[in-house]
Amino acid sequence: MTAPVLLITGASSGIGAATARLAAGKGWRLVLAARSRQALRDLATELGGPTRAVAAACDIQDWEQVAALPARAEDAFGRLDAVFANAGVFTPTSFLHGTGSPERWREMVLTNVYGTALVARATLPALVRSRGHLVLTGSVTGRITVPGQLYSATKWAVTAMAQSIRAEAAGTGVRVTLLQPGLVDAGDTTPDRAADPRLRPEDVARTVLFALDQPDTVDINEIIIRPTGQAAHR
Ligand SMILES: NC(=O)c1ccc[n+]([C@@H]2O[C@H](COP(=O)([O-])OP(=O)(O)OC[C@H]3O[C@@H](n4cnc5c(N)ncnc54)[C@H](OP(=O)(O)O)[C@@H]3O)[C@@H](O)[C@H]2O)c1
Repeated sequence: MTAPVLLITGASSGIGAATARLAAGKGWRLVLAARSRQALRDLATELGGPTRAVAAACDIQDWEQVAALPARAEDAFGRLDAVFANAGVFTPTSFLHGTGSPERWREMVLTNVYGTALVARATLPALVRSRGHLVLTGSVTGRITVPGQLYSATKWAVTAMAQSIRAEAAGTGVRVTLLQPGLVDAGDTTPDRAADPRLRPEDVARTVLFALDQPDTVDINEIIIRPTGQAAHR
């Protein structure tokens, strides 16, 4: 069988880059999407160059750029089998105190909610054609209450989005997996969590590949992964 093709958003660092490396090692061909062109190009080269991995610079808040992603995959490799909608950002917030300009909140909501929705909308028609698989990165914070945290609210939105997409896609053959990591040694966090245990991005990547590696009759709906010892309320 021809090597399957996985599109990853947020592939320039952290969980996305670790997943790209692990998937490449298991024979997947990759389309690597994020805004940082050079990081994507370097990773594509590391993973074997244009026959194995291609860079697709893209801001997921921009519909035209997102809408071009499936064609990038199909032009490069002739198919699109799976999408890891993983790009996201974290900004500390409080609804009671001044912790920076709320103007930064817009960026987080537009990336984590609107951008993730655009990635789903743009890629699902191709995934229906391939009877493929959509994996979305939510967060443990998308299932618990975190005081004052708008980030958590954006991840509750991803939780609902994954369920909504799975409901709409029933009968198409498309599988939908919601990934909910706890604290990972990647991206931004708040100083009060400096001493908390963390997963490595590679730990999370293994769970993504676990879901992707299932037979097409098996849909892993949700994966919750915390570092050992992480408090249940975080
Ligand atoms: N780190 C944690 O503790 C943790 C826990 C649970 C869930 N998560 C989630 O895991 C996902 C990956 O984050 P990470 O922890 O691996 O942090 P990260 O290393 O900062 O990765 C975030 C990725 O998203 C990309 N990105 C951000 N805004 C984008 C945009 N507008 N368009 C396209 N790409 C964009 C970034 O690339 P560019 O800057 O190059 O665009 C980067 O590749 C996020 O959804 C995050 O919310 C993280």
